[in-house]
Amino acid sequence: MKTQGWASRFLASLAPLAFVLAGSGCADSKSTGDVDTSRASEFGFQTSVRTSLVEEGKRVYLTYCIGCHGEKGDGNGEAARFLSPRPRDFVRANFKFSSTRAGLLPADVDLKRTITDGLKGSSMPGWDLLPARSVDALIAYIKSLSPRWEEQDSASPIPLVNDPYRAIADKTEAIERGKTIYHGFATCWTCHPSYVPEEEINSHLAKMENPTRDVFRDKLFESEGKPNKEGEMIFPPDFHRDFLRSGVQVDDLYRSIAAGITGTAMPTWVDSMTYKSEKTGELLVEPADVWAISYYVHSLMQSRPAKIAEADVSVRERPHRIYQVGEPFEPITIDDDTTTDVDFEED
Ligand code: HEC
Ligand code: HEC
Repeated sequence: MKTQGWASRFLASLAPLAFVLAGSGCADSKSTGDVDTSRASEFGFQTSVRTSLVEEGKRVYLTYCIGCHGEKGDGNGEAARFLSPRPRDFVRANFKFSSTRAGLLPADVDLKRTITDGLKGSSMPGWDLLPARSVDALIAYIKSLSPRWEEQDSASPIPLVNDPYRAIADKTEAIERGKTIYHGFATCWTCHPSYVPEEEINSHLAKMENPTRDVFRDKLFESEGKPNKEGEMIFPPDFHRDFLRSGVQVDDLYRSIAAGITGTAMPTWVDSMTYKSEKTGELLVEPADVWAISYYVHSLMQSRPAKIAEADVSVRERPHRIYQVGEPFEPITIDDDTTTDVDFEED
């Protein structure tokens, strides 16, 4: 083919050039006949090979990420004033979604997942068209922006407890168990909505040897806004209608629920899932129950109505303040009374 002919002629024309360059100034290599690649900068056309991953990441970052995450990586890009939640501040490095416990830095696989898949229901797009190397470079660059990455030992991931329901095709048992744990033990409905009426919550509470209640919070069937660490009001998702950020498969739910979500009210569950009955001494709750809750949440998402009524405002459409150009972000003051159950890990 014509192009092949052209290409091989071009390569052939480079051969003497390489010979000349190899011969010029490389006294050591001359004697062995090898080209000294450790001194690649002497060959002008090879310098790009030496560009570090961080520098490459910076280039990609300045092309695609700067508009939201900002020039310094502090989450103050041009578009940030329109966005709720705001873009992550890579200098404070309170990364939310990870396979490590809430409060700890994420693993590289977590950052990779976030960057390629995006965070649904927020303005963070999925960058699945970027080559894998660019994503690795972005991760290297993001990690160069905060000293936290040097201070903290790499955190180990949450334990992956054996899933007792995996091999069983009919998930009814898992879902029923998850419903009981959700309403009766973990009381997820203090932040997320309840999906059963009050009397049924009480029957789940009793089953789990928890005191029943006479009074429940207002708007029990909607989620309750909770401020995050950066002073933004965040609504926990309603699994019947809101997007989840970090994946909707059962394995994703296990990760989000077991690990919790850094800097938000969403706690780490995997460490609190062991409870012995005070009456019989038998295990009433065990770590595998995180799987049961995951199947339950998954079933809630699958039973969404095909079309959501316009009156049902979803998380991303809740009104939020839009700032004027140059106006600094104003964190909401966190009232101690409303956040008694929010226990942030200290930096
Ligand atoms: C259109 C705005 C926008 C652009 C462009 C954008 N992001 Fe984001 N990004 C966000 C928002 C908003 C969040 C926070 C979402 C949340 O808190 O739920 C976020 C969060 C993140 C997070 C943190 C996830 C976590 O667990 O806390 C990472 C990492 C990230 N972005 C990387 C990138 C990279 C890399 C690029 C460029 C390739 C990029 N983003 C481009 C808006 C954007
Ligand atoms: C103290 C309040 C609180 C409690 C209790 C709580 N959550 Fe959350 N949860 C949150 C908040 C806030 C978010 C939203 C975090 C964000 O996106 O910034 C959230 C998010 C989530 C998500 C979404 C993850 C994603 O990818 O977007 C899941 C799933 C979830 N919670 C499940 C549960 C389950 C199951 C329980 C009970 C075992 C529970 N939560 C208990 C506050 C809570």
